[in-house]
Amino acid sequence: MSKKRIGILVSGRGSNMESIVKAVQRGMVSYDVAVCISDRARAQAVVRARDLGVSVQVVRKRDYARKDAFEDAMADVLDAHRVDLVVLAGFMRLLSPHFIRRFPNRIVNIHPSLLPSFPGLDAQAQAVRHGVRISGLTIHFVNEGLDSGPIIFQYPVPVLPGDSDEDLANRILKYEHEFYPRVIDIIVAGAFHLNDRRVVLDLKIKGMFTSA
Ligand code: GRF
Repeated sequence: MSKKRIGILVSGRGSNMESIVKAVQRGMVSYDVAVCISDRARAQAVVRARDLGVSVQVVRKRDYARKDAFEDAMADVLDAHRVDLVVLAGFMRLLSPHFIRRFPNRIVNIHPSLLPSFPGLDAQAQAVRHGVRISGLTIHFVNEGLDSGPIIFQYPVPVLPGDSDEDLANRILKYEHEFYPRVIDIIVAGAFHLNDRRVVLDLKIKGMFTSA
């Protein structure tokens, strides 16, 4: 059987993209990275992806008159690469229903907080400012809202006294890199089912907190 294929959407630094590609290259997961799409030509992620030998395409919003044309261009690249799952990794745009309908339950995102707490930008700074003792990360399906889709996986990370936003961000990021490649492996294999908005994983993985 041929390997499942993912497409990764990025806008910035690309450290999650890199951790996914390295997991693939080390044979730790069973899928391939077919393509990486950046909506910013100068993103660090573009350089990183090229250095890792991943096929990268830049698709910029400003080159299209309308948002749906921009999103169609990205979706066409993903289709051309026969992608089974779309993986957002620091992709800084809200995708419209138009795009999401082309990949039903086939888009995942990672967010650096325990959703539904602290959606949107600067989740780690929101957590520090709020004074929570535990934050963490959430991997979820993308729906039409902001960071509001069905939750696949969460991992708690402590907020320590005196933490700066950056301290917390770095502590969470380490776990993002550890878990995102593995959770993608389960989802791209189709080893889950959806019970309303509850995601039930058919595979149990050691060290992971998943729904029952
Ligand atoms: C990560 O913290 C991720 O949770 C959030 O955006 C950041 C992306 O970082 N969605 P990177 O580009 O993967 O380094």
